[in-house]
Amino acid sequence: ILSISLLAACGANSESENAGNAESGGSAEAVSLRLAHNQPEDHPVHTSLMELSKLTEENSDGNAKIEVFPNGQLGQERDVIELVKSGTLDMAKVSASALEAFDSNYAIFSLPYVFQSKEHYHHVMDNSEAVQEIFQGTKDDGYVAIGWYDAGQRSIYTVDKKVETPADMKGLKIRVQESPTSIAMIEAMGGSPTPMSYGEVYTSLQQGVIDGAENNEGALANGHGEVAKAYTYTEHQYVPDVVIVSTAAWDKLSEDQQKAIQDAANASTESHKDVWTTAIDGYIKELEGMGVNFYTIDKKAFIDAATPLHEKYTAENETNKKYFDDFQSHLK
Ligand code: GCU
Repeated sequence: ILSISLLAACGANSESENAGNAESGGSAEAVSLRLAHNQPEDHPVHTSLMELSKLTEENSDGNAKIEVFPNGQLGQERDVIELVKSGTLDMAKVSASALEAFDSNYAIFSLPYVFQSKEHYHHVMDNSEAVQEIFQGTKDDGYVAIGWYDAGQRSIYTVDKKVETPADMKGLKIRVQESPTSIAMIEAMGGSPTPMSYGEVYTSLQQGVIDGAENNEGALANGHGEVAKAYTYTEHQYVPDVVIVSTAAWDKLSEDQQKAIQDAANASTESHKDVWTTAIDGYIKELEGMGVNFYTIDKKAFIDAATPLHEKYTAENETNKKYFDDFQSHLK
């Protein structure tokens, strides 16, 4: 439940009474947009969102600003997507998996092993027409996506059980994002999926409500590693983080302001790649020091268990098939 002061922090703040709806570039009054996300301030994605904010201000000569609200203080991912859709909040950074509950075209990002490597993933995200179509396709639904951040690979981790094969997943309650494809994925991989918001995972691990979860190494550095000590590189997903903007806020900006923000988003996507890698390397060292074990396995059994979902996905409709083929065409 959002407090009144937080809600008050949500709406776009025109710095002039006459702001907004400028027809031509350059004539709009300065505008300040609010962006929410659920990571702490020492997280690499927060670093890159601050870069987005800084570059937006620079590119627009102070005519557009982005104020970043971290730590889930404006809500969990589902909540902030609702707020952005309704135009109550201007911007958010959420996982592409969370968007699947709002637009089924986002399902492809959660399809296990749709990306075969980090290189394949980056190539698709940077070059695919399908990605741009999905990003722009929700405009009439209240929001568009203007950029993405590398959120690494996602793998299985448990409190103490070392998972090496799908058989080891039997009976394990594994938290997943609130994404139908991620739920189906854990079932296919042999476990019992338990969807819940990110903010609930730490306590659920601690209280034994779940046996484990699946995420990048950063989630363990965000506290989960205090409880979960066995991390297995199943590398079943590479789910991008996505920056969404409410259509209401975007349409009020001048073309110059839109360009300033879009250029800043593109530049911060690029610089984030190194920011991410450096942060993850540091996290792994830190987590090993806390007694977290990282296991590398032969992933074949997991790939075999999960890939029947590809056929199910492409058989569903023509659009799915088109997106899937587009993603595969970026394999070098
Ligand atoms: C990643 C992602 C977050 C998301 C989280 C989750 O950490 O970057 O945006 O909330 O996964 O599993 O819910």
